Amino acid sequence: MTQARAVRGTKDILPAEIRKWRLAEERARTVFGRYGFVEIRTPILEAYELFARGVGEATDIVHKEMYVLERGDERVALRPENTAPVVRAYLEHGLAHDPRAERMFYIGPQFRYERPQRGRLRQFHQIGVEVIGESEPGSDAEVVAMALDYLTSLRLRDLTLHLNSVGDANCRPAFREALRVYLEPRLPVLCADCRRRYDQNVLRVFDCKVAADREALAAAPVIGDHLCPACADHHAAVKSALAALGVAFTDAPRLVRGLDYYVRTAFEVTAGGLGSQDAVLGGGRYDGLMATLGGPDLPGLGFAMGLDRIVLVLPDDHPDLEPEGVDLFLVGVGAEAHGRLARLAQELRGAHLSVRYDFRPRALGAQMRRADRLRARVALLLGEAELASGSCILKRLTDGHQETVPMAQVAAAARRLGRLPPHGEER
Ligand code: HAM
Repeated sequence: MTQARAVRGTKDILPAEIRKWRLAEERARTVFGRYGFVEIRTPILEAYELFARGVGEATDIVHKEMYVLERGDERVALRPENTAPVVRAYLEHGLAHDPRAERMFYIGPQFRYERPQRGRLRQFHQIGVEVIGESEPGSDAEVVAMALDYLTSLRLRDLTLHLNSVGDANCRPAFREALRVYLEPRLPVLCADCRRRYDQNVLRVFDCKVAADREALAAAPVIGDHLCPACADHHAAVKSALAALGVAFTDAPRLVRGLDYYVRTAFEVTAGGLGSQDAVLGGGRYDGLMATLGGPDLPGLGFAMGLDRIVLVLPDDHPDLEPEGVDLFLVGVGAEAHGRLARLAQELRGAHLSVRYDFRPRALGAQMRRADRLRARVALLLGEAELASGSCILKRLTDGHQETVPMAQVAAAARRLGRLPPHGEER
């Protein structure tokens, strides 16, 4: 029999890595909470139409990468992103009446049929935020500042914020025209996808990954030279709001992002140590999206971060990673002492300590080796002498320091020896 294997482009998140995932997720809840964001959880399955309309039929994400399923007369997709679903949920539940829904965040898997490589998966995970109803440039700046606040607290290094404005329905038509004029003589050398993009949605040529096409695009006009006064003003105001918050950025005139809903502000953050897939975050403003999905014309903006990428570069020695291993490992020497361990373990768990012990009464040395392997902070030794005196020996495994303590004080003494927080303020 061949051994069962995971689907290409998917990944198991194993016990050895889970502390980083938990830190990244918990930190998002904490930091985003400080900015007034509340969590939302939407389904993984959505109607195909939602993404065709919301993200854009001509985008690579919808056209080439979306997992589409047909069941009966339904056509559904595994969500490739979560902005369109959150806006859908906002409309469907009339969340305009719920002030909590002005600022929402989500954590969860997304699916794109891309060529897998380091930092690029077919099932990946995003932490994202969506702000509904805020049109002021100060809001753009605050959302970006929050993203950097979060990434910095995770100690990611070489963070760079790339900022652009992609204009809006007023100024984009003229830019599209300028781009078409530039591309027309070059069409014969462009790939088939770019020729399709030229006809359907010319801005998407900037998504092209073909090296020769990228070269042909190097001297293409940039949207920044074609912004209408309102978009130019907004962009300038976002930049000065960022400066006022002390957030450094790099102008990225060719940043257009791979989703059609963006207007005005678009940004990405790259981090060091990731190689070619170095964008840990992408986002921007999407003022027309809600109307496209059949709702009122409310503005919106947000970003999503690749959690898989964040975890790849989160330092192993981050001081806020949960400690590994159990608090206590119980060792029983002799049948009678060993027979007491089950009950003792339950009592200590009742005092909020994490406890393990061996069900089989093995030799002292074997039990101590297991305590080490489980990275117990403290071993509790119980033998005949201790049973007789109603005490036990606690041994700190990092340095071998040990003390004999009365049974009644075991939990408190174990906390002290293991340098654990006092009962009542557990991790
Ligand atoms: P996106 O740029 O397509 O934007 O994705 C955001 C982030 O998700 C990327 O910067 C990257 O870190 C991560 N990511 C994307 N694809 C993959 C993949 N195949 N493997 C691993 N990580 C990946 C969006 O999805 C928008 N919905 C963001 C947004 C929210 N805009 C406004 N609100």
